[in-house]
Amino acid sequence: MRIDIITCLPKLLESFFAHSILQRAQQGGYVDVVVHDLRDYTADKHRRVDDYPFGGGAGMVMQIQPIATCIRALQAERTYDEIIYMTPDGERLNQKTTNSLSLRQNLIILCGHYKGVDERVRELFITKEISIGDYVLSGGELAACVLSDAIIRLLPGVLNDETSALTDSFQDNLLAPPVYTRPAEFEGLRVPDILLSGHEAKIDEWRYEQALTRTRTRRPDLLEE
Ligand code: ADE
Repeated sequence: MRIDIITCLPKLLESFFAHSILQRAQQGGYVDVVVHDLRDYTADKHRRVDDYPFGGGAGMVMQIQPIATCIRALQAERTYDEIIYMTPDGERLNQKTTNSLSLRQNLIILCGHYKGVDERVRELFITKEISIGDYVLSGGELAACVLSDAIIRLLPGVLNDETSALTDSFQDNLLAPPVYTRPAEFEGLRVPDILLSGHEAKIDEWRYEQALTRTRTRRPDLLEE
C-alpha cells in the first residue's frame, strides 16, 4: 500500500511516522508513506498556499492551484483508489471505514488548514471526506495521522501477532474484553481465576461475555447497529 499525504506542515507528520509500529511497517515494506509539502507546488513566488476568502470573513482559505498541481503530479505516476480530505464536516471515521480502506492500494490524504480548502478542490478531486470526531482541530494533520495509523496496523504482517488486530475493540461491533498480565495478584486484586485455568474454550467464552457486558454498559449503540 502507498499513502501520499499532502500538507503545509510536513515536519509535523514526519516525526509521527518515524516511530514504533508505523516505522516498522515502512521498513518492512508493508506501506510507503510519502509526505508532500504543499509549498513545493505553489506558483506563488512567496510560496503562499492560502488567501483571503471571497466575500470577506475571518480566516484564510487554502488555494486550489497548489493542491491541483500536487494531486495531478501524483496521478500522473499512478492511479489512486481514494483522494481523502480530512475535515470536521466529513463522515465520522469508524472501524468499518478503516477496514475497507486497508484493502486499497494507493491513497491520497489531503490535510486542511485555516478555514479549509477552496470548495472547488472538493468538487474536482476529493472522493471521500473524513472527520475523526465532532471537534475542530487546528489542522487536518493529526486527523491524517489517526487515519493512517488505524489503516496501517490492519495490513497483514504489520502487527507481530496477526490475530491481534482482529480482536481489537470495534471489530464485530464489540468493545474488547479486559486484559491482565503478571503478577496474578497485586495489592489484594486478583486476576479472574478463569484466565489462569488454561481452559481455552472457557476463556474464549468468558472473554466474549465480558466484551458483551462492556459494550452493553459503555456503548449500547454499537449493539443496535
Ligand atoms: N480538521 C480539523 N478538525 C478535524 C476533524 N475533527 N476531523 C478531521 N479533520 C479535521
